[in-house]
Amino acid sequence: MMTKAIDARGKEAKLIDPALFRLPLLDKRIFEFEDEEMPAAISELSEIFKRANAFVFVTAEYNHCIPPALKNLVDHFGTDEFGGRPAGIVSYSASRFGGVRAAEQMRLLVPSFGAITIPNAMSIPEVGDAIGEDGTTPHGSPWPDLTDAFLTELFAWARAAPGKTNHDGID
Ligand SMILES: Cc1cc2nc3c(=O)[nH]c(=O)nc-3n(C[C@H](O)[C@H](O)[C@H](O)COP(=O)(O)O)c2cc1C
Repeated sequence: MMTKAIDARGKEAKLIDPALFRLPLLDKRIFEFEDEEMPAAISELSEIFKRANAFVFVTAEYNHCIPPALKNLVDHFGTDEFGGRPAGIVSYSASRFGGVRAAEQMRLLVPSFGAITIPNAMSIPEVGDAIGEDGTTPHGSPWPDLTDAFLTELFAWARAAPGKTNHDGID
């Protein structure tokens, strides 16, 4: 649903699924690799993140937290990859709470690597009924319109953002 809505605005959306990239359990962050060969997935993701104008973090909720695979993926990177650009947060879950607790954790996490969270957010409850595997929604679903409003805000912040910043990190 989200990638199709971004495509419809004439922008490229790259879907990064931690289940497909399968980064190693975090041992070193990207800037700690020296002589050792950096896993190809890490350098590939770094280039994708550096080129992005904005981010959408989509999180499920596992035991009231963000899933470990998502945290493991973002922890490999830092402000070089994410800094100075806006990030929207989308959560979902099987329950009626829509993963709001994970969404609030994302809101605390995102500034640590220099991105800026936008005010709008979407928390999608009972996700199995809300959105099909192919991204379609049932007739009368609110999610297409809410996605549109979310993207309008994200794109506005992307136009206003400073872009990639040059600081060494946020402690
Ligand atoms: C380990 C685990 C913990 C979960 N904890 C929660 C939870 O705290 N709150 C909730 O609403 N759903 C919880 N769920 C249900 C998930 O919301 C549901 O399985 C969802 O579809 C997971 O998305 P995924 O398949 O993309 O990982 C949990 C599921 C798993 C596997």
